[in-house]
Amino acid sequence: MNLQKIVILGTGGTIAGRAASASDNIGYTAAQVGVDQLVAAIPALADAGPVITEQVAQIDSKDMSFAVWAQLAGRVQHFLAQPDVQGIVITHGTDTLEETAYFLQAVCNPAKPVVLTCAMRPATALAPDGPQNVLDAVAVARHAGATGVVAVCAGTIHSALDVQKVHTYQLDAFSSGDGGPIGYVEEGVVRLLRNWPPAQEERALSAIKNIANMVDLADWPRVEIVMNYAGASGAVVEALLAQGVRGLVVAATGNGTLHQALEAALLKAQAAGVKVVRASRCPNGRVLPKPGDAIPDSQGLSPVKARIDLMLRLLG
Ligand code: SIN
Repeated sequence: MNLQKIVILGTGGTIAGRAASASDNIGYTAAQVGVDQLVAAIPALADAGPVITEQVAQIDSKDMSFAVWAQLAGRVQHFLAQPDVQGIVITHGTDTLEETAYFLQAVCNPAKPVVLTCAMRPATALAPDGPQNVLDAVAVARHAGATGVVAVCAGTIHSALDVQKVHTYQLDAFSSGDGGPIGYVEEGVVRLLRNWPPAQEERALSAIKNIANMVDLADWPRVEIVMNYAGASGAVVEALLAQGVRGLVVAATGNGTLHQALEAALLKAQAAGVKVVRASRCPNGRVLPKPGDAIPDSQGLSPVKARIDLMLRLLG
């Protein structure tokens, strides 16, 4: 059988990290090993059909930028349009993987699979987790019927809409919260538990056109995240308002509750034309709206994803 190509795009991260000692799993420098080298070090990939690689970026994902997102979305769109490409795998740092996954789902809305994968241990570790994660990601990209942006880590497939990093160092560092994972990769075989990520609304089309020309931070609508906590005040919101912020996501407590001082400042910002959205700082559940809520809820999105959603709406 003539298999189509899988494209593996490298962006850096711990999966491409190097440490001075093989026994050091935390004292490494991320984004040192090229994606072609990573792939060459996985002999089992030779049985997985044709694979091509491209280095899109080489960064620690804590430093993810709008410029890299714009470039990545452009390359994803380019390869998705090739009839002989079955799907895309992206190697990425774990720290902002959930943001890139959500961004790509929103702007590319892919009908083919786009699979982000990563590692918690550097490539130089005694027992690195990256090679198995890449193999699993390719298995997902090869799976008939796979569609949309997902993340694969430690044998678990997460939807871009739900995935969240929940652990600082364990290999199984991601969760899909109460939505649960899409499925598992078991010895190279995908076992599905629920549907692939649903297609996003059509605003993706206009957003991608705008994003293609925007590599400059200054071009993106400024949307910031503020948090509710004991003793919160309106000071940060006031400062951001004075700086011309266009959107604010509040990581509220519980079911979207806000300290009265923070709420007053957010309502003032809203009255001044700033778009304000309420997400929850709880890792599970979603803000359930009540009649008459003055600040709209994030429709189940976490604060970081609600921020991307709001930026794209302001761009659209
Ligand atoms: C990163 O996010 O690039 C570094 C941390 C990791 O990949 O685990």
